[in-house]
Amino acid sequence: MPQTDLEQHSLALQKIIRDKIHETGSISFATFMQMSLYCPGFGYYSSGNYKFGKQGDFITAPELGSLFAKSLASQFSQVIKSLDNPIILELGAGTGQFAYDCLVELDKLKALPEKYYILEVSADLQQRQVTKIHELPKHLSQLVEWISQPLANKFNGIVFANEVVDALPVEVFRFHNNQYQQMQVTWDSGFQKTWGKFPKNQLKQIEDKNLVLNEGYISEFIPHLNSWLNSITQNLNQGVVIFVDYGYERNAYYHPQRSEGTLICFYQHQANCNYFQNIGTQDMTAFVDFTALAEAGDSCGLDVDGFTTQAHFLMALGIQNHLGDSQNDYKSYYQNTTELKKLTLPNEMGEKFKVMAFSRNYSDELIGFTLSNQLHLL
Ligand SMILES: C[S@@+](CC[C@H](N)C(=O)[O-])C[C@H]1O[C@@H](n2cnc3c(N)ncnc32)[C@H](O)[C@@H]1O
Repeated sequence: MPQTDLEQHSLALQKIIRDKIHETGSISFATFMQMSLYCPGFGYYSSGNYKFGKQGDFITAPELGSLFAKSLASQFSQVIKSLDNPIILELGAGTGQFAYDCLVELDKLKALPEKYYILEVSADLQQRQVTKIHELPKHLSQLVEWISQPLANKFNGIVFANEVVDALPVEVFRFHNNQYQQMQVTWDSGFQKTWGKFPKNQLKQIEDKNLVLNEGYISEFIPHLNSWLNSITQNLNQGVVIFVDYGYERNAYYHPQRSEGTLICFYQHQANCNYFQNIGTQDMTAFVDFTALAEAGDSCGLDVDGFTTQAHFLMALGIQNHLGDSQNDYKSYYQNTTELKKLTLPNEMGEKFKVMAFSRNYSDELIGFTLSNQLHLL
């Protein structure tokens, strides 16, 4: 979108949010984030701005090349080959690149699922995914189906999401005078933050974490994590659920040094902390508390099977086997090596990103956790 269109688009969304604030005087930060990212037609993810890639605001692992998807396909293949009528359900499929590369690799591995469902909340991104998937050979593209609600019937298979949990709206809290306060958003010739009281159920959610925090400590949590995970996995009869995202186990997440929280915005590849600027035209995201995710899985009756770094997970899946042949095709070998470094080096995505897996009625050890499994950290 050209700059002027972006500005007009942002002003239109700001008016919608302001009208919402006028109804009650204030809204919670989670409502503000929900509207900024997902307001139909206007939210950051719902509108037609670039978002991904060099022209956009950020690059995700599937957008770097095909190594990430090829490695995950090895993990999917293990599960698919051991289940009856397996399907894959991908949440928040971005540009559709992961689904594209994954299906090509699963075809090679002779491990195609019966269906590849995509659950996407953004109409704009769904349109881009349809275009990308139609570039696949017909026997692969016809496996893909878009759904707007979690699967209503029992299924066997894999639920997968890369960088989706970090895009779920968070509540922001402050620990002040030995009490937790909720960040709220008001309007007074500009968006302002104020601190108020949490509803009882959300206060309990924070108190149950048993955090030891210093005065003034600010951080976040996802208020609807359990119900969201339950809605997606309640009909999983047999199979696994795999999340890849940036984040930490709880002790590191609420570490005293992280006293301003993990909430961050991205605009044209620049990070900033001002969620009241570029509303609807910049990404807004928070790191994932993987202990909270594990607790949510447990509350949904899932087994928590694995937790490790992206680097360990991809190496265990043999990412290095996809580099190609340096003698015959030096250029793609070089590109693949660069991609492998980005995905696995500790100062790139290797350690910041983690992988967590759950299962139901599935007892095989997942290949991705055979090099390292750090469940004890949670
Ligand atoms: C940061 S993007 C990641 C996209 C893609 N997985 C990738 O790795 O390139 C977040 C994606 O999650 C989607 N999303 C956000 N909330 C969602 C939800 N509740 N259910 C399904 N998708 C969601 C967004 O529309 C977007 O496609």
